[in-house]
Amino acid sequence: MTDQTPTTARTAWSRRNFLKSSVASSMTVTLLERARADAPAAVKPTDGTEPRSTTLRINGRSHRLTVDTRTTLLDALREHAGLTGTKKGCDHGQCGACTVLIDNRRILSCLTFAAMVEGRDVTTIEGLAKSDGTLHPMQQAFIDHDAFQCGYCTPGQIMSAVACVHEGHAETDAEIREFMSGNLCRCAAYPNIVDAIKHAKPLMEKA
Ligand code: FES
Ligand code: FES
Repeated sequence: MTDQTPTTARTAWSRRNFLKSSVASSMTVTLLERARADAPAAVKPTDGTEPRSTTLRINGRSHRLTVDTRTTLLDALREHAGLTGTKKGCDHGQCGACTVLIDNRRILSCLTFAAMVEGRDVTTIEGLAKSDGTLHPMQQAFIDHDAFQCGYCTPGQIMSAVACVHEGHAETDAEIREFMSGNLCRCAAYPNIVDAIKHAKPLMEKA
């Protein structure tokens, strides 16, 4: 069966329908946009790991850092505070390269979240020398006793050595070796490290 509608009527009909449906769909889009604009801003789900402002007291100075709550103290020191003296060895608590002092007691900064030490005193290798450049007795003793070769482990060794004396574990060679056993040295400078600690101990006690 053939379509008997004249061509002009058919064209007018389809043009009218086309215009109607175009207007309808553009109105739908406008209404949707308006509804979206009027909707209250969606609250983004949080998982508690967003960066937040943390103030750390490092070597007697306040540092305001914006760090992820999962940022380790080691990364906060190196990547955010620009203090690269503290070294990253294993990043798993096995080598001691990242040792720093918190309130004068040693800790592994790779196993400590930066947010955990807010308001406490952090001391790194950069904070040992005096402001006039005079080295800490332990730093000087490491130099005088050749207690390092490549030097990569040395900041961690020195921070542990300072704690070894402060925490009262430097009475005998065996005690020193036991306390320092968490600080690995691939260059095997161990005997000279023990000598350096024995040398620095009375100087630290006098100071
Ligand atoms: S880097 Fe922290 S223990 Fe090795
Ligand atoms: S001095 Fe090279 S790793 Fe200790």
